[in-house]
Amino acid sequence: MFRSILVTGGCGFIGANFVRLLLERGHAKIVVLDKLTYAGRLENLAGVDVPIVVGDITNLELVRHVCKTHNIDLIVNFAAETHVDQSILNPFVFTQTNVQGTHVLLEVARELGIRFHQISTDEVYGTIDGDHHSLETDPLRPRSPYSASKAAGDQLVQSYHVTYGLDTTISRGSNNVGAYQFLEKVVPLFTTNAILDLPLPVYGDGLQMRDYTHVLDHCTGILAILEHGKIGEVYNVGAGATISNLEMLEILLETVQKPKSLIRHVADRAGHDKRYSVNVQKLQQLGWNAQFSPRAAIATAAKWYLEHPNYWQPVRQSASFKAYYERQYANRLEAAA
Ligand code: NAD
Ligand code: TYD
Repeated sequence: MFRSILVTGGCGFIGANFVRLLLERGHAKIVVLDKLTYAGRLENLAGVDVPIVVGDITNLELVRHVCKTHNIDLIVNFAAETHVDQSILNPFVFTQTNVQGTHVLLEVARELGIRFHQISTDEVYGTIDGDHHSLETDPLRPRSPYSASKAAGDQLVQSYHVTYGLDTTISRGSNNVGAYQFLEKVVPLFTTNAILDLPLPVYGDGLQMRDYTHVLDHCTGILAILEHGKIGEVYNVGAGATISNLEMLEILLETVQKPKSLIRHVADRAGHDKRYSVNVQKLQQLGWNAQFSPRAAIATAAKWYLEHPNYWQPVRQSASFKAYYERQYANRLEAAA
């Protein structure tokens, strides 16, 4: 359907799963552009034969050059700073990549007439009350530097559609789990902690609600939007069901067969959003359905880390991860002891 697809952030968790899915589905030409930040890993594309350009999406000359050289007719933008806790520690890089970087991609897409798909997040809706499920038309009420930068990216995308007539779509995914996720995110962090018999630092009461979605469901949702979605529209993507973080933990501990005594309630994340939940009916109308419940998604993901120690052990042993873990958790765990 597309001649040549540029996947930005293709060495990250969801981008790498998406590249693998595109290849499985027979999409011939794919090019990855990735800065290889701490979260980007060439290992995520091990065994995958696609050109990988190492570079920054904020570099307009580079983006233009890559798009012209490879005759790109679709950009799917996964490249982002993605961790809420990192956005609390070091917010500026989030506006650089998630706002400025998105803007650069849009500008090149406009100049060269390239279809543009933005990978966004349900976090742009902010925390929601009661039994509401966010609709694509809901107001954006981001509350962390991460979600604020993603919301700004979405608004730029929509402005390019309205102002310049650029062919755009946006997907807003909920919390993804699965293979190749960086260890700072809760499911791989807690699974590997549990395997190593380390405490699991649960922020606050652990009653926050999330729609834990398998990454493959997210990727098939993105494909459905690319193939059948309406230009200019936004689509939520999620399992369509929520569970609490404590329930997520129980599933994970059951899967790796470790005791609940590893759980530690620690000081909460600043501005922690209590509940996200998306209404996915608009995407379902394109013929897509999630294949994994949150329970199945978490169990499948935890099993993958159990079976792939060679993937995550080098990260856990790296100086940068150890420094981050110490900064983020040492005081919290000490105070909880
Ligand atoms: P990730 O952190 O695993 O990967 C991000 C990738 O982007 C990395 O490979 C990194 O090297 C690359 N990158 C970062 N800055 C860059 C830059 N300036 N130029 C080029 N490459 C750069 O993230 P992920 O979890 O795979 O998320 C991918 C996208 O999906 C993001 O846009 C994120 O906001 C969105 N999203 C994530 C989730 C989730 O649960 N992980 C849920 C919904 C939406
Ligand atoms: P995370 O994986 O960081 O995703 P997000 O903040 O984008 O939803 O966190 C998922 C949930 O798990 C969130 O409610 C915060 C919680 N959490 C903890 O309780 N402890 C942790 O160490 C981490 C990383 C997250």
